[in-house]
Amino acid sequence: MTVLSVQSIADLIPADMDALALKISMARGLGEIMGAVRRTARRLVGADGITFVLREDGMCHYADEDAITPLWKGQRFPLENCISGWSMLHREVAVIEDIYADARIPHAAYRPTFVRSLVMVPVREDDPVGAIGAYWAHQHRPSPDSVDILRRIANSAAVGMTNVALINSLAAAKEEALRAKDAVILAMASLAETRDSETGNHIRRTQHYVRALARAAQTHPAFALQLSDAVIDLIYKSAPLHDIGKVGIPDSILLKPGRLDQQEFAIMKTHAELGRRAIADAQQHLGVSSTFLDLAQEIAHTHHEKWDGSGYPNGLKGSDIPLSGRLMAIADVYDALVSERIYKPAFPHDEAVAIIAAEKGRHFDPDLTDIFLTIADTFRTIYNRFGDGPLQLQTA
Ligand code: C2E
Ligand code: SIN
Ligand code: SIN
Ligand code: SIN
Ligand code: FE
Ligand code: FE
Repeated sequence: MTVLSVQSIADLIPADMDALALKISMARGLGEIMGAVRRTARRLVGADGITFVLREDGMCHYADEDAITPLWKGQRFPLENCISGWSMLHREVAVIEDIYADARIPHAAYRPTFVRSLVMVPVREDDPVGAIGAYWAHQHRPSPDSVDILRRIANSAAVGMTNVALINSLAAAKEEALRAKDAVILAMASLAETRDSETGNHIRRTQHYVRALARAAQTHPAFALQLSDAVIDLIYKSAPLHDIGKVGIPDSILLKPGRLDQQEFAIMKTHAELGRRAIADAQQHLGVSSTFLDLAQEIAHTHHEKWDGSGYPNGLKGSDIPLSGRLMAIADVYDALVSERIYKPAFPHDEAVAIIAAEKGRHFDPDLTDIFLTIADTFRTIYNRFGDGPLQLQTA
């Protein structure tokens, strides 16, 4: 092992300590902190081994080490039974020149190891969260300088561990907010579903149709760039909100058994803009910018636009219609056609497919219509899986 004179240790320290403090301050996890500490500490104090011990529910967890031969990495001992625990409980540094002459040491645990001398410093002295141990294979009187270096390293580690704990609790809070957001979205979607009870599983089915269609479109050069797996997942998740605006439509129109007159249909058409606004408001209240809710807005707003420009609310034409809206249009209309609605009977699958095919380039994006035709069987399967039963789908 290297024996450093007091003078050369003192020369080395400032730059090394600064580098270590910087590395620790940027660490995003405990592993990074422990890794930096064990390497630097071993070099600076010329030890044969370094351990990094974490205090965990009354136990000393020997979480990391850097040593000539293995020490106790991965093991846990009660705080009362180990010197790191002693150091944490007493908030004191232990300097032990001969471990076999010190009653605080559990000798049996040391016999299989190389250790003769050690220094143990608590991490965060006022309320220890861990300890750093330095070990020597020969009997060695650790210098006050080495003890001082270890204490300074422990102070840097304490700052780093506090940062990491803060980062983790922020991440947990963010995770919590995301889960709350998902719950709100589900609640919104099921509200729409309850109002429009005729549509039953419509919302769930359209989600699966739109994903199946998007996956098929992914292999088409015209769409591949826009349809990453992540985008498809977002479309799948936001699709349930496409008709959320229907919660703003009066029952007398929404649940009218017969055909809507022109004025009623004009009101019905506002559901696209109402939906966009409802999601935008929700987004503002949640105070988050979310790709997911941006996409949900886009889908709610544009799922009734038509390729030839005759749709609503804005009469967008061709590829001016966002791809998400063009995908949703096919999913939505297929499901409306094969389902019984309060205002219409169910069409058989083949008839629904024929109606959609006839609208290629009029209502629907021609390329997406072709893609739909290649996977129409998948749509039928999805309907049967989530529908009210296969009988409604018997081919005429
Ligand atoms: P929805 O029932 O979910 O229908 C979605 C879309 O599927 C319709 O959008 C339309 O493009 C297509 N679709 C539905 N049924 C048929 C059909 O029998 N033939 C053809 N070719 N296409 C069909 P649209 O027309 O903009 O309607 C939007 C929503 O307005 C509908 O959603 C439904 O909730 C309501 N609605 C439309 N027409 C009537 C009606 O005559 N009576 C009642 N009570 N509601 C209607
Ligand atoms: C230690 O005392 O430093 C570890 C070994 C043990 O607690 O048994
Ligand atoms: C798909 O998503 O690729 C089709 C199957 C489903 O969604 O149920
Ligand atoms: C539409 O107006 O095209 C949908 C409703 C219907 O055809 O009954
Ligand atoms: Fe709609
Ligand atoms: Fe719909």
